[in-house]
Amino acid sequence: MLSGKTILLGITGGIASYKICELIRMYKRANADVQVVCTPNALNFVTKLTLQTLSKNNVAVEEFDIKNYNPEHISFADKADIMVIAPATANTISKIATGVADNLLTSIACAFTKPVIIAPAMNCHMWENPIIQENLRKLSCTVLEPESGYLACGYLGKGRLCKIEKIFDKTAEILNYKPLTGKKFVITSGGTFEDIDPVRYISNYSSGKMGVALADSAKNLGADVTLITTKDVSKKYNVIKVKSALDMKDAVMREFDNADCVIMAAAVADYRVKETAPQKMKKTDEDEITLTLVKNPDILSELCSLKARGQEDKKTGYIACHHDIRTSYPLVVGFCAESENLIEHAKEKITKKGCDYLIANDISRKDIGFSSDYNEVTILDKNGGMKKLERADKMTIAYQILEEIF
Ligand code: CTP
Repeated sequence: MLSGKTILLGITGGIASYKICELIRMYKRANADVQVVCTPNALNFVTKLTLQTLSKNNVAVEEFDIKNYNPEHISFADKADIMVIAPATANTISKIATGVADNLLTSIACAFTKPVIIAPAMNCHMWENPIIQENLRKLSCTVLEPESGYLACGYLGKGRLCKIEKIFDKTAEILNYKPLTGKKFVITSGGTFEDIDPVRYISNYSSGKMGVALADSAKNLGADVTLITTKDVSKKYNVIKVKSALDMKDAVMREFDNADCVIMAAAVADYRVKETAPQKMKKTDEDEITLTLVKNPDILSELCSLKARGQEDKKTGYIACHHDIRTSYPLVVGFCAESENLIEHAKEKITKKGCDYLIANDISRKDIGFSSDYNEVTILDKNGGMKKLERADKMTIAYQILEEIF
């Protein structure tokens, strides 16, 4: 995703430095070249060896440790496409704002003419200090404001480093990496709600986070995104809120026509109540009651057969009454939630449903999948190929899935 780009990553002396290890991994997974420059104090929080191993580059700290004729601060500044300083302490922010260049990192910042992202992290009183705020205003760069919450110093307030994914997204956005421009993505998310009566329903534990992460990533990569979800989501792209499997099917079918890719990340209920009671059902004297359920349409399978029929008609030139022949059909991607025999079930499902890719995830584990912010998946393709994506936050997994399928 970021191949050919060099990111100069400046780390300063704050406790949030340890989080930057994950940021380096995200940049590396996106194929960026990462050059780490630390202030001497940063190495009190994270080791040079860790940063070197993750970035696969020497870590620069000292200004006068010059290995060739080039002054290092100038050659680093020339080579990189962007400079990201995270976490940025009040001290480093103030130095950069006032042109102080007393270590390698601040010297590079002073000489850097390309885009700079600064992600501050500090105690909440330091953040609120008018001098620091004044210095921040002097910076001509993108500042990713810290978040509120419990701080390492014990205070509750604003000062925590923003999410690593936010720094990654901003970097990709500024580097203008938009390979999905002009592509329409339709993504579903969340568990459907099947009404029993006006106050009760059947649903599942799906949080909808994986679908949202996919929609956010596709948007960041330039796609025109429509998210069809059962959750309340407010985004800058098109969001269609639905409730039941039948609502979701209607919305997906409407959007399918001009889509380039449909990803069914939603946990669609396989059955719905045969007859939804119009009024709240009353408790009876019986110890048991029976609800009759009927099968919901399998949206993914229907999309796949629509596509297969369309492609077949295109080959034979026969114009069927059920649809117009299109010049191209979207890539159809399904998800597969399993609590046992993940790969075995996933292989059966991709064949049965006929989708191009199936993303298999294990929902029996507490540290990934449903409700978690993390996931670990295996991508299966229709030709029998398989690729495992190691456990990572859902946004990282989403980028990797998009990179793999598109
Ligand atoms: N799916 C769908 N419509 C349904 C059920 C599932 O479109 N009525 C889609 C899901 O969005 C997912 C894929 O099918 O992309 C697989 O869903 P999953 O729940 O894993 O499998 P099921 O087909 O429901 O089979 P089972 O519940 O027996 O595992």
